[in-house]
Amino acid sequence: MKVIVLDSREEAAVTVSDEILVALRQKPDLVLGLATGSTPTGVYARLVQAHVNEGVDFSRVSTFNLDEYLGLPASHACSYRHFMKVHLFDHINVRPENIHFPPTEGEQLVARCAEYEQSIDRLGGIDIQLLGIGSNGHIGFNEPTSSLASRTRIKTLTEKTLKDNSRFYVSGDSPPRLASTMGIGTILGAKHILLQAFGERKANAVQAAIEGAVSALWPASALQLHANTSFYLDRESASGLTMLDYYQSTNENDRELRRRGLL
Ligand code: GLP
Repeated sequence: MKVIVLDSREEAAVTVSDEILVALRQKPDLVLGLATGSTPTGVYARLVQAHVNEGVDFSRVSTFNLDEYLGLPASHACSYRHFMKVHLFDHINVRPENIHFPPTEGEQLVARCAEYEQSIDRLGGIDIQLLGIGSNGHIGFNEPTSSLASRTRIKTLTEKTLKDNSRFYVSGDSPPRLASTMGIGTILGAKHILLQAFGERKANAVQAAIEGAVSALWPASALQLHANTSFYLDRESASGLTMLDYYQSTNENDRELRRRGLL
């Protein structure tokens, strides 16, 4: 795992969006796994800028979102489909038929969750998976005690997540209790994972994910089993880490090795 601590979330957005744009240059039919919430908005704004100002082409890109609430129509201001339209899809030239969300409406959700997995596989898997992290360590909507091998399915949200996410809802309303989400096994299938976390509120979850034991109680700790995951943190979210000096010297050495063409 790489742990990169940056001065601000803006700096993280630049670094992470650059990673995506470099990958897109190398593979125009990039398969992106996308996240919602307040954390990735800076990255989406940079991708929009790259399209508008530099003509970066997303027409061959496919996207798979991590999760979506059950029972919210796509037009609902708090649905993740609406979030993605507002922050990204309406402003780049991704084709509507290349945009995918886990199923939340209609019948046979279990079978359609399996189809979601198959659609990812058919495109050769996710090249880059963008992640945030819940304050309880969830990734996607894989709440604590989710199987580390889980695949796309319906999950019940914890009280903690409902409370955290109710800030996006008008007063009195609370988020739906059920959501459809890629599983932890699905996420671990991505070739490259970029997780961003900002703010003191995330410090415990970040510490448990990076330095704790691999445990279903902290779903993001499963990322320790993934060979190519990078954490992009601000100082506040990194404040619980005990090996910060080591991560910093590793990054300096990596930079030097890259400069010498050895990485
Ligand atoms: C939601 C999403 C997660 C996201 C998390 C963090 O629960 N399902 O994918 O990582 O919120 O949200 P925020 O970035 O707003 O802190």
